[in-house]
Amino acid sequence: MKTIVAFLTLVAVPAAFAQKFEGLAPTPPMGWNSWNTFEGRISEDLIKEMAEALIASGMQAAGYRTIVIDDGWEAQERDREGNLVPDPARFPSGMKALGDHLHSKGFKFGIHNCAGAKTCAGLPGGRGHEFQDARTYASWGVDYLKYDWCNHGTADAQETYKTMRDGLYAAGRPIVFSICEWGNNKPWLWGKDVGHLWRTTGDIVDCYDCQAVYSMGWKYILESQVGLERYAGPNQWNDPDMLEVGNPGLTLAESRAHFSLWSLLAAPLMAGNDVRKMASGIREILTDPEVIAVDQDPLGKQGYRFMDHPGKQIWAKELSGGEWAVCFFNSGDAPLQLRIDWNHLSFLEGTFRIRDLWRKKDMGRTTAEFRGSVAPHDVILMRLAPVP
Ligand code: GLA
Repeated sequence: MKTIVAFLTLVAVPAAFAQKFEGLAPTPPMGWNSWNTFEGRISEDLIKEMAEALIASGMQAAGYRTIVIDDGWEAQERDREGNLVPDPARFPSGMKALGDHLHSKGFKFGIHNCAGAKTCAGLPGGRGHEFQDARTYASWGVDYLKYDWCNHGTADAQETYKTMRDGLYAAGRPIVFSICEWGNNKPWLWGKDVGHLWRTTGDIVDCYDCQAVYSMGWKYILESQVGLERYAGPNQWNDPDMLEVGNPGLTLAESRAHFSLWSLLAAPLMAGNDVRKMASGIREILTDPEVIAVDQDPLGKQGYRFMDHPGKQIWAKELSGGEWAVCFFNSGDAPLQLRIDWNHLSFLEGTFRIRDLWRKKDMGRTTAEFRGSVAPHDVILMRLAPVP
């Protein structure tokens, strides 16, 4: 009898299903997500307006191609057959129609659900419905699934996310799988075989250095990324959470530094602001091609903290072609005067040409000392190219 059961198990879950879709995220995903600004206040009209604003602002052209509808899109209950259905008042046309609309505008269609019995907002979660839900997403044309971790009970994280991975694979539509279990079970150790990115922390909020039980400002998130760089690479990214760039709790300098450091981390760049009402300074940050190129560099290496002194940090990211991005971060509250002898940056071998990415200025070579000043919570971000 035991032999028969073992045989049946093998037949029911062929090894070919036990994998993620390969090659879907060679560089960190970029897009826009509804949660940071709108939480549950979402509708198909809002999503369509945001799509228009992403196009009009140049953000789509800059690379923000995946629109993710976060928690709050569902009806209170599944239908009679156990299928997920959208809230009929706020998404009256249905998710297939919304997906078709986003595709017609050149976007990828992303959606949120949860590995637990209910989502964090108390709506139907995926537990026990993984293969069915994956088929539903495939039928709606979903391209990206963010899968949360609320209400998971005693479930094992790795096994639970693997089940959804297998469901997605069996459904046959390539879908980027974004693991969102907040770093509780060290997903950087197992995530690469399961999804394309994994959250490494609790939730980000729009402040520089505030802290609550499950949420914190970007300064503390940055701190918790130290040492995780070795786990990231093409199709397997650490996700230090979405961007708060442009949200009310950050100054322009804090938004610029947040964006710079997320690019150094090769983080997914998921904007979370109201793109319809974006100030021009914020638009310039979010669409800066040279900073985005640091994040999206094809070598796919996450940067690391090279130096940490009170109020002063240096972060470095190796880029393709022997180039480097170097970020001087003033984490303190007073202006910082910098004097950089490039010889002390031991990862640099040889002489490099220097470009200041935010000031859009070429700054000579690393043979001369660099002097500059950095405002509180701000950065100087440089790209160094080897001199042959
Ligand atoms: C969790 C996630 C957030 C967001 C909310 C939605 O807190 O970490 O990013 O998706 O759930 O309820």
